[in-house]
Amino acid sequence: MQKASSMHTNPTILTGIKPTGQPHIGNYFGAIKPALERAAEYENSFFFIADYHGLNSVQDPEEMRRLTRSIAATWLAAGLDPAKHHFYRQSDIPETFELETILNTFTPKGWMNKAHAYKATVANNQTAGRSDDHDVNMGLFTYPILMASDILLFDTSAVPVGKDQIQHVEIARDIAQKVNSFYNKDIFVLPEHVTHEGIAELPGIDGRKMSKSYNNVIPVFASVEEWQKAVRSIVTDAETHTPDSLKQTTFYKLYSAVATSENSETLVRDITSGAIGWKDAKDRLASALEVRFAEYTKEYERLMNSPEEIDRILHTGAETVRPIAQATLRRIKTTIGIL
Ligand code: TRP
Repeated sequence: MQKASSMHTNPTILTGIKPTGQPHIGNYFGAIKPALERAAEYENSFFFIADYHGLNSVQDPEEMRRLTRSIAATWLAAGLDPAKHHFYRQSDIPETFELETILNTFTPKGWMNKAHAYKATVANNQTAGRSDDHDVNMGLFTYPILMASDILLFDTSAVPVGKDQIQHVEIARDIAQKVNSFYNKDIFVLPEHVTHEGIAELPGIDGRKMSKSYNNVIPVFASVEEWQKAVRSIVTDAETHTPDSLKQTTFYKLYSAVATSENSETLVRDITSGAIGWKDAKDRLASALEVRFAEYTKEYERLMNSPEEIDRILHTGAETVRPIAQATLRRIKTTIGIL
């Protein structure tokens, strides 16, 4: 899967996490859990909080501090072990921004014109009859170059991302290739994106894709009452189900993501035989959420109540990562004649 160039023997996995609000179970099963599982297969793993990417949308200082800690606590509570994985804030690694300056000089503007996020903003402006540049700052325009810098700084071979970020990883690879071929030297490892195959998108309680913007999420961090409330709103039908038709329902997709496969089989039997109805089924889902996420919620809350612990973990992470970043940057600066 990963094709590190032969000079680099340790495959490295890296991913950035933007500071955002609390996760829903779609984020957990679709991104957090698979990324942590994937990381266990690699020699080196880097998880960082992409706070300067976040600055494009989070511009309130208190909000930035809170969201940064919140996303850190989310991953730590999910089992990210800072003794095994490098875990740090992007902003604590200034080499990232020095490398970005170098990469800027090799990146054709035309590549940025084609980047999805920028293109979407321009398209929206055109539809709304505004100028193309309305609300486009350079942070948005050069977003993929900063991301390339995050990736290339650590000789990353694999980058787990959602579908919306694949293009950015491809741009990072293109930039790396351009520099390598210009100097006729393997300066950068060529990164590849890894997506989480086999994980179907979870539906939300209304059957559409689970997403905050649809207001149809089941939260990961919640109380039993909140889980019950969300579960009761799941849309169900009045049909008599066969096992096959049941497995197509929103309810079953959610239940089988959360519960064990054994409990999922039992549920299929109990519903199709008429032993239980949707109400009991929903109670079972609420219990399954509790089994799965109550401890996780507790640990998240414990961490959020000790912000100094989170800060210390991120700080220690940055201290171990910086020498690695400095070594890569030195190698590149030597190649380009700045050192
Ligand atoms: N752009 C990514 C997102 O929106 C976050 C990110 C920043 C990232 N730098 C990265 C992801 C480097 C992977 C590698 O989710």
